[in-house]
Amino acid sequence: MRMPVLSWMICVIGLLSVAALWVVRPPVPTESPSQNVAGVTVGGPFSLIDQDGHTKTDKSWQGKYLILYFGFTHCPDVCPLGLNNITEALNALPEETVEKIQPVFITVDPLRDDVAALKNYVPLFHKKLVGLTGTEKQIEAVKTSYRVYAQKQGAGPNYMVNHSAFTYLIAPNGELLHAFPHNTAPSEMADAIKKFVGKN
Ligand code: NI
Repeated sequence: MRMPVLSWMICVIGLLSVAALWVVRPPVPTESPSQNVAGVTVGGPFSLIDQDGHTKTDKSWQGKYLILYFGFTHCPDVCPLGLNNITEALNALPEETVEKIQPVFITVDPLRDDVAALKNYVPLFHKKLVGLTGTEKQIEAVKTSYRVYAQKQGAGPNYMVNHSAFTYLIAPNGELLHAFPHNTAPSEMADAIKKFVGKN
């Protein structure tokens, strides 16, 4: 089913406005993981539910690098593209690198994205992708700590969610290593991931 052009535009306009903020201080991959992205503190503890109904926290994947993406399953094309790019980037990396990485999708639309919705959605992308949802309060908290912008647009069951769409790469110690803008090509993402993850 084709989504209305207007809805698609709202999604894109939101992205552009948030992306514009980052253009001022572009996140650049650095040699040293101790250098944070533009000195911004991003991230923190969370406790959510995965697509199998199990509790997952920021400590559930000890020793792994996290690739975090926030979005919603009804997103017409921004989220599918972002998640496809992550999938392609992971597919371009050696298996021993992928072993050290856990890709995670966190919904910004907990009202519609329940466990069942995530169960249908995450298999469309990388086989390791985990989908997380929670209560509205839990999702608000995780959005705030990861500096994710997401705002419901429109009324009725077919509302859209205008949201930022960065792909975060987070070190095993919880430090944000890099925030990839939405238009990052999979090959570029794979190269940067290799640079950070390959070292350890
Ligand atoms: Ni989206």
